[in-house]
Amino acid sequence: MKLFSASVFAAIIASHYASATAHIRAPNVKPRRTNSLLTAPPQQPPLPSAQQAASASSSAGLNLTDIQGDILIGMKKNKELFFFFSITDAATFKAKLGSDILELITSTNQLLAVATQPITAVNVAFSSTGLKALGITDDLKDPVFEAGMLSNAVSDLSDPGTGNWVPGFVGTSVHGVFLLASDTIDNVNTELANIQTILNGSITEIHRLQGEARPGDQQGHEHFGFMDGISNPAVDGFTPPAEIRPGQALIPPGIMLLGEANDTFQNDRPPWAKDGSFLVFRQMQQRAPEFNKFLQDHALNMPNMTSEQGADLLGARIVGRWKSDAPIDLTPLVDDPVLAADNQRNNNFDFSDATNQTRCPFSAHIRKANPRGDLGGINKFPNQHIIRAGIPYGPEVTDAEKASNSSSTDPSLERGLAFVAYQSNIQNGFVFLQKNWVDNTNFFRPGTGVDPLIGTNSRNSGTDAPNTPRVVSGLDPNNATSTIEIGIDFVVSRGGEYFFSPSLSAIRTVLSV
Ligand code: HEM
Ligand SMILES: *[C@@H]1O[C@H](CO)[C@@H](O)[C@H](O)[C@H]1NC(C)=O
Ligand SMILES: *[C@@H]1O[C@H](CO)[C@@H](O)[C@H](O)[C@H]1NC(C)=O
Ligand SMILES: *[C@@H]1O[C@H](CO)[C@@H](O)[C@H](O)[C@H]1NC(C)=O
Ligand SMILES: *[C@@H]1O[C@H](CO)[C@@H](O)[C@H](O)[C@H]1NC(C)=O
Ligand SMILES: *[C@@H]1O[C@H](CO)[C@@H](O)[C@H](O)[C@H]1NC(C)=O
Ligand SMILES: *[C@@H]1O[C@H](CO)[C@@H](O)[C@H](O)[C@H]1NC(C)=O
Ligand SMILES: *[C@@H]1O[C@H](CO)[C@@H](O)[C@H](O)[C@H]1NC(C)=O
Repeated sequence: MKLFSASVFAAIIASHYASATAHIRAPNVKPRRTNSLLTAPPQQPPLPSAQQAASASSSAGLNLTDIQGDILIGMKKNKELFFFFSITDAATFKAKLGSDILELITSTNQLLAVATQPITAVNVAFSSTGLKALGITDDLKDPVFEAGMLSNAVSDLSDPGTGNWVPGFVGTSVHGVFLLASDTIDNVNTELANIQTILNGSITEIHRLQGEARPGDQQGHEHFGFMDGISNPAVDGFTPPAEIRPGQALIPPGIMLLGEANDTFQNDRPPWAKDGSFLVFRQMQQRAPEFNKFLQDHALNMPNMTSEQGADLLGARIVGRWKSDAPIDLTPLVDDPVLAADNQRNNNFDFSDATNQTRCPFSAHIRKANPRGDLGGINKFPNQHIIRAGIPYGPEVTDAEKASNSSSTDPSLERGLAFVAYQSNIQNGFVFLQKNWVDNTNFFRPGTGVDPLIGTNSRNSGTDAPNTPRVVSGLDPNNATSTIEIGIDFVVSRGGEYFFSPSLSAIRTVLSV
């Protein structure tokens, strides 16, 4: 039998894929997948189908083919690499960005159907020094982005200096980040190598962080053991009305996307910034063995509970949800895995009828970060929304760490959350949540204390050493006035940066020319 010549074969393949996907993107389409690169845990609100999103976006006038894929997707990645780089040859970088990288950038639309997903999704975002390196001097109207994270890490985020920061984040040399997501690390590494070859030495690596979903039944759970990614807002123009889950906030697109409805500076942004979003990145180390020991040592003393159950209850009250994700506002004393697995019920609560701490402490992480119905109506804070799109990083706790109750100092055993938050206004979004709520000892009542999971006392920002005791009230359901002193930081900031994730058309018409 005579075989097809390689070139005939290639032409058949090329024409097949070109016709199947011509409406998405013409050139250099890669082989397609048969399984989704995204996770779909039943606890989280589902993504819209491509058809649902097409109809939702057409009524809101959003172009989902122009919006980078990560922004509206949330915590649904299996493996995700963050590759932080500095641009060393701007002319080459810009040329390659337009000629070869742009066609690798994955849009929102592409992620919504397996048939249009690439093997590895690629997104790119730039810091303010990165935009300058590309010769972009337009004012994006976000002073927090403009100044960079190093400049407000102490004053706004209460980091105890930069002593624990990854060296590459100390300074302003991170110009951008590639986000590469797939179902295997091999795929991610192959795409990274491809990008580095294309860019031909025009960037240098500053830092990389490999994120991966935790294994087995811990998939979707962060390293303290709690299911994550339940409560992200639905976005008008993306989430179809029928898919909004009870209790889920619905926000106008401009809270996430520059230049869209209800963006605070909708009409003042440079035109090319439309449909971009600010990406806050924080590498947050989690000291899981220390957290677990703290729970054991301060297990709540309840009449009908073992000390292990008392420790679980304390953990649930620190987060505001059980490890399963069931909200303690709905099931305050005992976990409810059936409720947890039902995304029609597991986010359906607010605190307007829970004015004391019998069910949920005022200091609980989810109440600090989203005080649903506290202080007034449920829509009291229309601008204080972020979409969380991070992923855990690092290995499971080892037996040796478990036995010693302490995190190893071996850098290869560091674990935590590669925290990503999107919003159109960093001051109103991430910074507001961190500074005005999480770290504010008087939010939302005097004497509440900081968020016990991630908070650092902002009153002393810059002067507190790491592990300065943090006083938190309300954790004991039997005695709301009792306080617990937490003498250890469960979460250690390893630094980060503020980025802008531009639209595909901005890359094509402005950033690459
Ligand atoms: C290592 C650090 C962190 C851990 C382990 C963590 C863990 C969690 C968990 C388990 C949930 C509940 C799941 C859910 O509702 O989706 C949650 C919710 C949330 N977190 Fe965090 N988080 C961390 C950092 C942050 C930071 C830095 C912020 C922002 C400043 C933040 C903001 C939020 C918000 C807004 C929610 C949703 C609250 C709601 O709407 O009910 N988190 N987090
Ligand atoms: C939507 O964005 C894509 C990608 O930039 C672009 O090719 C297309 O023309 C845009 N569609 C409209 C209607 O503007
Ligand atoms: C890569 O850079 C080298 C040296 O700067 C240059 O000679 C070569 O042509 C470039 N290759 C491509 C594919 O652009
Ligand atoms: C969006 O902006 C309009 C006009 O400024 C305002 O009336 C409306 O309340 C805003 N919507 C939300 C959800 O903030
Ligand atoms: C302990 O008692 C409370 C109240 O009587 C009950 O709601 C809860 O389920 C019990 N907890 C356990 C672990 O049995
Ligand atoms: C907390 O509020 C609930 C419902 O409003 C009430 O039944 C309970 O007695 C209150 N607990 C305390 C300690 O005030
Ligand atoms: C670890 O902490 C637990 C709970 O406090 C304690 O029982 C155990 O003895 C500790 N182990 C070591 C090696 O300190
Ligand atoms: C509640 O805690 C406060 C502060 O620790 C303490 O003074 C008070 O005696 C406690 N009340 C009860 C009933 O245990």
